[in-house]
Amino acid sequence: MCGIVGAVAQRNVTNILIHGLHRLEYRGYDSSGIAVVDFKSNLTRIRCLGKVKNLENALKKKKEQVFGNIGIAHTRWATHGEPSEINAHPHTSGDIAVVHNGIIENHEELRKILQSRGYIFASEADTEVLAHLIEWELRFSNSLREAVQKTTIQLEGTYGIVVIDRKNPKCLVVTRSGSPIVIGFGINENFLASDQLALLNITRHFMYLEEGDLAEITYQKVNVFDIKGQKVERKIIESNSKDHIAAKGQYHHFMQKEIFEQASSLKNAIEGRINKDLILTNGIGVHITKILQKIEHVQIIACGTSYNAGMTARYWFENLAGVACDVEIASEFRYRKFITRSNSLLITISQSGETADTLAALRLAKKKNYISFMAICNTENSSLVRESDLILMIRAGAEIGVASTKTFTNQLAILLILVTALGKQKHFISIEKEKEIVNALNLLPKQIDNLLNLNQEIQYLSKGFIDKKNTLFLGRGEFYPIAMEASLKLKEISYIHSEAYAAGELKHGPLALIDVNMPVIVLAPNNELLEKLKSNIEEVKARGGILYIFTSIDTDIKTDKGMTVISLPSISEITAPIYYTIPMQLLSYYVGLIKGTNVDQPRNLAKSVTVE
Ligand code: F6R
Repeated sequence: MCGIVGAVAQRNVTNILIHGLHRLEYRGYDSSGIAVVDFKSNLTRIRCLGKVKNLENALKKKKEQVFGNIGIAHTRWATHGEPSEINAHPHTSGDIAVVHNGIIENHEELRKILQSRGYIFASEADTEVLAHLIEWELRFSNSLREAVQKTTIQLEGTYGIVVIDRKNPKCLVVTRSGSPIVIGFGINENFLASDQLALLNITRHFMYLEEGDLAEITYQKVNVFDIKGQKVERKIIESNSKDHIAAKGQYHHFMQKEIFEQASSLKNAIEGRINKDLILTNGIGVHITKILQKIEHVQIIACGTSYNAGMTARYWFENLAGVACDVEIASEFRYRKFITRSNSLLITISQSGETADTLAALRLAKKKNYISFMAICNTENSSLVRESDLILMIRAGAEIGVASTKTFTNQLAILLILVTALGKQKHFISIEKEKEIVNALNLLPKQIDNLLNLNQEIQYLSKGFIDKKNTLFLGRGEFYPIAMEASLKLKEISYIHSEAYAAGELKHGPLALIDVNMPVIVLAPNNELLEKLKSNIEEVKARGGILYIFTSIDTDIKTDKGMTVISLPSISEITAPIYYTIPMQLLSYYVGLIKGTNVDQPRNLAKSVTVE
């Protein structure tokens, strides 16, 4: 989704800004732009539709080198107004240039007021309202900071806003509410961004602005003011995050790299959290034991892939820990009246920790009577992490591909560890069962490494999808949410319409869709539901459906007319949902390649969905 970079220095910041935008490309966007001001107060603004590369080329085409010691840059993911050069940021008004992440909900009302004051709008973007409003307020203010403060009190919605003033090319003003902003500290130069990844190559020292904060940034100094306008100190932290953005290495795409990285990312997730036989409760949080004892209900909230991880964990919470669990999509949860169960733990799951709906749901839930708020997250210092009481980092490393792969399997591993710790505290899990789970988790990285040998077989299989318009994924029990995840992956990567069904539901409607043009992918591990699933397979076969069945080598399901069987090495039933996810990811990756889509940045999608 939209990305922001800003810099103020004594040197030319243009390349720093462009480089920062490149590092944010993975988040998804449709246009980009930059505005820089030099020592003599000349403002240069360039905006382009499409990739940051286009912006870079446009800069190169300028007769003179574009120079600015202060500047802002932006990648835009269209919300108000189509993707176009005119709607791209920065937006300007008089001497002011502005970039903005988020949505100004009362932009229409403000637009009318500003038009009545004589402002002429060049775009449909809500951000242009901000530019004119700040320009207006600046006329009656002593500083840009004051003008921005006067502006934000008139806004409804979410924002991370950065403003520069051509007449004062020494100071960036930035403020946030609902959209993250991080300030990066250099030596005689300072930076800001919506994601620390944009700045990791130039600094390791960061300060995260809190809700409602505003900062004035010069090359020498950063002054932060809270929502009441009081000067405040915010912690500066040293990041030890690795700069993963680097390279795809031997891989063609980040998605492919991230699929193949899963053995090692899983090792990271479990390290220090289990030993040979035991779940190490301390490894998931020092104060967690007391809370686990009290839990009678778990409420999970998440979106997309993270929601599918929560749905899988629901089976585990009830089967393995004997604790009731509900899972809800954040955008639904936040807009309905919900009943808080007694002694309920609220868990949010999110790769980015910045998903607007998940964050809003957490903030809403915090007004209710939950015993604690846990975040299962991949991004250190994200808003979700900072606003939760208990944190379980999934340690998957930076995920650059827009489609979640390694973060899903790491989320599942962490959830399984949490469930086991809970079951142990509740005396629901026997010592033997705990041993079995820990053993299965310890074996998993190696098993996944071996499973990736199916790569070529799945690549071959993907050819069968080249002319397909629809696909159905089937699973039962905890393989139903794995089918949901497989279906989400296929549709986002290959643009083939796809649905997931609990296999038992087939006869209640979807069976009508089955014909020779409808591939049906079945997840059929060797478990207690296999016999039931076989009947569902027969229902599809009898109606001429094309079946692809992913099963265990030790079942009697064999390739037959209209039925391709992919046999996977047999594995513990407990970790099988994580294991069966891998061939599903490979399948969508290869179908995406065959379809010629941009697998790392599928159209219309963003890595971090910071608007609702
Ligand atoms: C799909 C995908 C999305 C995200 C969703 C939530 O591959 O990545 O569905 O899972 O946008 O994002 P996070 O986990 O960052 O809250």
